[in-house]
Amino acid sequence: MIIVLLGPPGSGKGTQAELIYKKFNFFHFSTGNILRNEVKEKTKIGQEIESIINAGKLISDKIIIQIVDNKITEKLGHYKGFLFDGFPRNLDQAQALDTLLNKGNQTLSTVIQLYVDEKEAVKRIQKRKLEEKRQDDNEDVLKSRLKVYLNETKPLLDFYQKENKLNKINGMQTINDVNNQINDFILSLKNT
Ligand code: AP5
Ligand code: MG
Repeated sequence: MIIVLLGPPGSGKGTQAELIYKKFNFFHFSTGNILRNEVKEKTKIGQEIESIINAGKLISDKIIIQIVDNKITEKLGHYKGFLFDGFPRNLDQAQALDTLLNKGNQTLSTVIQLYVDEKEAVKRIQKRKLEEKRQDDNEDVLKSRLKVYLNETKPLLDFYQKENKLNKINGMQTINDVNNQINDFILSLKNT
């Protein structure tokens, strides 16, 4: 099963992905985590992208698609499922994902949209700033991340709606309630 989690910063993609991959034995693929690790390890890519992440802008598709190709291709077929968190972020990345899955004789099963309003997203990111000290968790950068989501990622909702793959879940419930709803949904897919 191949699942994409879509939603703005603070919608709970990472939180839910952690719970889902453990329960269902899926492979959790978070481009944000991978990129932050590259920065932390000061790799060549890490040095190139640090200022872009800290400005709340998207990293180039070329770098992202290369990372996805490297980390996913060999794993296709070896896991019960894949959970994409933070990828795809725009239409070109969505097409790259389709191509990659086709090559591995796989198709995208579903897209789970977690929706939260901006006020809630801001509140959560302010809280996480104190806990995790992510460099991009400050008010100005968050504004840029939200704008990028609206301009570049939100069009994916229409794209996946047209493919009948979009499933919306209210991300403004408790973590547990959101998780129960997602688990039920995944189980219902497994049974069809
Ligand atoms: P990325 O790491 O993907 O960040 P993001 O999309 O901005 O999302 P967040 O991680 O901030 O939020 P989340 O939805 O995961 O929420 P979380 O579960 O943490 O990307 C970072 C950057 O990397 C991008 O800006 C870009 O530069 C680059 N990048 C990444 N992918 C890329 C790509 N494909 N292409 C190009 N560039 C890319 O929750 C947030 C907080 O809320 C936590 O404290 C959590 O405990 C809390 N919380 C969660 N759920 C609830 C709930 N239900 N109730 C109350 N609190 C909750
Ligand atoms: Mg995240």
